[in-house]
Amino acid sequence: MTDAIVGLDIGTSSIRVAIGELIDENTVEIMGLAKRPSEGLRNGSIVNIEAAITAIKDTIEQAEQNAGVEVLSCVTAIGGSQIESYNSHGLAAVSNKNQPNREINEADKERALESARATLIPLDREFLHVVPRDYTVDGTSGIKDPIHMIGVRLETDVHIVTASKTAIQNVFSCVSRAGYSLDKVWLKTLAQIQSVAHEDELDMGSILIDLGAGTTDVLVIVDGAPICSLSIPVGGNLVTNDISIVKGIPFAAAENIKIESGCCFLPALGTNEEVIIPGVGGRPNELASQDELCRIIQPRMEEIFSMVRSEIVHKTDLQRLSGNIILTGGGAEMQGVVELAQNVFGTTAVRLGIPESLGGIEEDYRKPEFATAIGLVVAQKNQYKSPDRVAKRNSSSGNKGESFIKKFIKQLF
Ligand SMILES: Nc1ncnc2c1ncn2[C@@H]1O[C@H](COP(=O)(O)OP(=O)(O)OP(=O)(O)O)[C@@H](O)[C@H]1O
Ligand SMILES: [Mg+2]
Repeated sequence: MTDAIVGLDIGTSSIRVAIGELIDENTVEIMGLAKRPSEGLRNGSIVNIEAAITAIKDTIEQAEQNAGVEVLSCVTAIGGSQIESYNSHGLAAVSNKNQPNREINEADKERALESARATLIPLDREFLHVVPRDYTVDGTSGIKDPIHMIGVRLETDVHIVTASKTAIQNVFSCVSRAGYSLDKVWLKTLAQIQSVAHEDELDMGSILIDLGAGTTDVLVIVDGAPICSLSIPVGGNLVTNDISIVKGIPFAAAENIKIESGCCFLPALGTNEEVIIPGVGGRPNELASQDELCRIIQPRMEEIFSMVRSEIVHKTDLQRLSGNIILTGGGAEMQGVVELAQNVFGTTAVRLGIPESLGGIEEDYRKPEFATAIGLVVAQKNQYKSPDRVAKRNSSSGNKGESFIKKFIKQLF
């Protein structure tokens, strides 16, 4: 079938699939979802191909059944330590071959971008995204789209994301051996932001934090474009580990207790109920208070947010971030997470990243944990818009009032 867009999120703890039906070029409706525990991954990387293939195949088949469609291809995303990013600068002389008045066209933009990516990257890495942040025409900076402007010198500032070739090959190999073709691999956070972010907060400068099981991935947006993407190799699994060690119980039991009764910010804990800690090896069950549990969880979650904060402070100017901190991933579903992030970052501008409403089975996917799968569907839908059509629409409407998503599409493709 040709009108389905399938987003496959291969996470450390869970695999999720979202199937969207393309109604028209602007509308996609979610028809089916599936989620199952992941296998064969460690800290966001595939470490056991056979196990990962089985898990991917099972989840896509389950989503196919739920949506009542047959899936042929999908898009997926990667993050974690497989990703590196940096900012670069490109320059091109505006060609006057077909444009005697030196009006900037797509080919000039392409040459400027080509020059920005002409940096040496190690042989074992490949470009995942080259996102233009803005353009400068003959010394005038801050231009979001230079098409049809007159000039002789076109410069661009770009954000470049590279990925490990092996990681990409592993993903391709798993998906194709599961029986599907893979159309594109996105940076996780870049896909997510297209479904959870609002235009105004991105123009003001915002941070997206994906609280996963194995990794915490971060994307910083300034002036409506990415300026920094990074990943910290720790996530919710570490919190579960702490509970498991302190309470002397298996990881799976600690995970259940964390999800059922965990809170990561003491002042946000409403009622202080008793939690049953299962006995191991014939040991009797014990009781612990939620308050006690929170005292185990909070320091680790605080540490994760502090690591994110110090990385961001090193790499960007916090003064330019007056929008929101947007929390996605399963970890964003923990009680007290918004309050804790507010406390660590010293701002009230923190919110949960709930995927936008696309119609269809809304109540099932409008949760932070579905941000990647739904983000992939939205990102891929946006890509289907032909660059020609987008360029024409933009040239007639001008840059003012242009939506973030439109800017984003233009920048990405
Ligand atoms: N309701 C909840 N309360 C607390 N924590 C939760 C809740 N739901 C999920 N989590 C935690 O979120 C983490 C899983 O998040 P998610 O499913 O986004 O990770 P993943 O995508 O599988 O992993 P990664 O992105 O790191 O590869 C786990 O640590 C899990 O314990
Ligand atoms: Mg994830």
